[in-house]
Amino acid sequence: MNDFPAQRINPSILSADFVNLQHELERIATADLVHVDVMDNHFVPNLTMGPPIVDRIQAVSPIPLDMHLMIADADRWAPGYAEQGAYSVTFHAEATTDPVALARRIRDIGARAGIALKPGTDPEPYLELLGEFDQLLVMTVEPGFGGQSFMHDMMPKLARIAEAKRRHGLDLWLQVDGGITVDTIGIAAEAGADTFVAGSAVYGGVPEDRIAELRAAAAQHTH
Ligand code: DX5
Ligand code: ZN
Repeated sequence: MNDFPAQRINPSILSADFVNLQHELERIATADLVHVDVMDNHFVPNLTMGPPIVDRIQAVSPIPLDMHLMIADADRWAPGYAEQGAYSVTFHAEATTDPVALARRIRDIGARAGIALKPGTDPEPYLELLGEFDQLLVMTVEPGFGGQSFMHDMMPKLARIAEAKRRHGLDLWLQVDGGITVDTIGIAAEAGADTFVAGSAVYGGVPEDRIAELRAAAAQHTH
C-alpha cells in the first residue's frame, strides 16, 4: 500500500506540455499523486484525453494516478481507468445513475473511489453515503479549464462535509480542485481539505519548488 503524508499535493497535468508528458511527469516526482483530468467535450465544454493516453501515463509516471473524470456516462467508462491501474478514480455525482454502485465497482477492481461535486451540486444527498467513498472532491472552480480563480464561497460546503466526515469517523480524503495557490491552499486546509490539486500553480514555475511551497503553506493550516 502506498504511504502518503497527511496532506497530499496532486499536480494537475492539464497545465503541462502535452507533447512532452513523460518529461512533465518526471518534473513532479516529489508530489504525491498526479491529477489527470479527463474531459469529453460533453460533461464539460473541453476535451483532453482518454484511455490510450492515460495508459501511457500510467506506464511512465513516477507517482500514482489520481483520475478526475469530467465525462458523461461514468458507469461505462470509470471502471476501465481502475483496471488500467489508477490509484484513485473520481467521477462526478451527476455523471452516474448510481454513485454507490459505481464506487463499489471501482473499489472491487482495487482502486480508491471518489465522488466529485461541482460548485452548484448540493452535498446533502451524499452526507450519509460518505463511507462508500475514499475521496470526495469539492470543485473550487467550474470544471473544464485550468487557471481560473478559487471560489471562496465553496468553503462552507467543504466545512459541512468535513464535519460529516468527523461525525462518522471516516478515513475519507477531502480534495479541492481549482484555483489552488500558495495563497488559497491554507484557506481550503482550514475548511477541512487534505488533498490539493494544483495545475497552473505548479507548472507556472519550477514544479519541484512550487510543490514544496504548496506543502509548506498547507502545513501551516492543518484542520
Ligand atoms: C479543472 C480541472 C483542474 C485544473 C485545475 O476543471 O479539474 O484539475 O487542472 O487547474 P488550476 O489549478 O490551474 O485551477
Ligand atoms: Zn481536476
